[in-house]
Amino acid sequence: MVTVSDTILAGVLNDLAGPGWSVCDDFLCGSAWRDLAEEGRKLYGAGRFRAAGVGQGQAGTLAPGIRSDSILWLEPDRLTTTQQACLDRFDELRLAVNRELYLGLQGFECHLAIYPPGSFYRKHLDQFRGVDARQLTVVFYLNDGWTEDNGGQLRIYLDEEGGYQDIQPQGGRLVTFLSARFYHEVLPARRERMSLTGWFKRSS
Ligand code: OGA
Ligand code: MN
Repeated sequence: MVTVSDTILAGVLNDLAGPGWSVCDDFLCGSAWRDLAEEGRKLYGAGRFRAAGVGQGQAGTLAPGIRSDSILWLEPDRLTTTQQACLDRFDELRLAVNRELYLGLQGFECHLAIYPPGSFYRKHLDQFRGVDARQLTVVFYLNDGWTEDNGGQLRIYLDEEGGYQDIQPQGGRLVTFLSARFYHEVLPARRERMSLTGWFKRSS
C-alpha cells in the first residue's frame, strides 16, 4: 500500500502549525490524480454532477451569482478503488494532524467539483456561521498543464488588509487550510477545472 511520504506530511503539518495554510505538490506521488480526473470526467459526462449550492447541508441553495460549479458528493460506501485510495491518503493526513496539532478531527465529507469555462466561486469562508464542524479544508487538483492564462486560480486571503496569494489548480497539488481562518475564492476559469474538495470535521 502506498502511503503519504513523511516529508510531505511533515511539510503540511509545519505549514498548518505556522501560517495555517499549505500548498503541497505531488501529494499522491505520481499520476494517481490522473485516474481520479479520468473517472471524474466520465461521471460528469454521465450526468452525475449537480449545480452546486451555498449554505449548509448537501442540498444547499442555488446561487449562480456566488458559485457556478457543478459537484458530485462522494458517498463513503460507494467509492471507486481510485477514490478510496485518495481518501485513505487524506485519512493519513487527518491522523497526523490529530497526533501533532491536536485538532481532534473525526468526520470527513468531500465532493468532486467541475468548473466549466466561465465559472467561479466568489469570496467565502468554508465554516458556516455558528457551526464549527468544518475545521480543515483540503482541495486536491485534477488538471493537466494548467497555465496562468487558464484563470481559475484559488485566491486565498491572508490578512485583514486584503493581502492574498493566487494558487494554480495544478494536477497533483493539494491545498490545505484551516477552514475558519481563510476567506478564499475561485477566479473565473477559462477552461474546465476539476478538483476533489473535502472538509475534516470535529464530529461526523
Ligand atoms: C470550495 C472551494 C476551492 C477550489 O469548494 O469551497 O473553495 O480551489 N474550492 O476549488
Ligand atoms: Mn471554499
